[in-house]
Amino acid sequence: MASFLSNLRYVAWTALAVGALFLIYFTTLSPTPLGDTVFWQAVWRWTHVLAGVMWIGHLWYFNFTQIPNAPKIPEEHRGPSIGKVIAPAALFWFRWGAMFTLITGLLLAWNRGYLFEALTFGALDDPSFAVPRTIFIGIGMWLAIVMWFNVWFIIWPNQQKALNIDNKHPDLDAAAKAAAAKTAMLLSRVNTFLSVPMLVAMTGTSTLFG
Ligand code: HEM
Repeated sequence: MASFLSNLRYVAWTALAVGALFLIYFTTLSPTPLGDTVFWQAVWRWTHVLAGVMWIGHLWYFNFTQIPNAPKIPEEHRGPSIGKVIAPAALFWFRWGAMFTLITGLLLAWNRGYLFEALTFGALDDPSFAVPRTIFIGIGMWLAIVMWFNVWFIIWPNQQKALNIDNKHPDLDAAAKAAAAKTAMLLSRVNTFLSVPMLVAMTGTSTLFG
């Protein structure tokens, strides 16, 4: 058992398999036939929340744990481990978590039949259809899309500069690295802020409007 638990790959793949079987088994006990649109809605909701936790979990780890506490480590004990080992690994799960959250979120909206209506706040529909539900989830989706953009096009490139990840920026001086780190930190803080109202729309839409 200890050797199974010591292997993260085994644990992660087994957990995904158990999750999938759990969903399939309870679908067979529900009124929804396997393969039905509602079954796929359950699949996208599950994978969307999984990926979202991976993304926002790392965002909050950076903002609530790493950024406030790293400077408390005495200079002589700091070494290169956080910048060279931990942060690049965390950034990998962070940005791919963001990508899978976006893809599964769009699939979920498509599955529910309101993808374009929500992204245009109901403007594509007869105005009488521009219901608060569409506007509510549309705001949540756009907040999350802005956050995804910040991750891929501002935070990640600036972190690559600040930490010289994959030796992409070997010639940057200390001032340029510090400026890149500052930009990445500020945008990461913006995303932390946006994550709170964004989750109101994600979790509230079906709850309030069915
Ligand atoms: C990146 C862009 C995103 C898009 C396009 C998106 C889209 C959606 C859509 C369309 C729904 C279904 C709402 C409904 O009709 O009930 C939803 C639900 C949800 N989303 Fe997102 N989302 C995104 C990001 C996120 C993020 C970052 C999280 C963080 C964890 C998240 C967490 C959730 C949760 C918890 C639900 C509720 C699931 C449920 O009630 O079953 N989403 N999202």
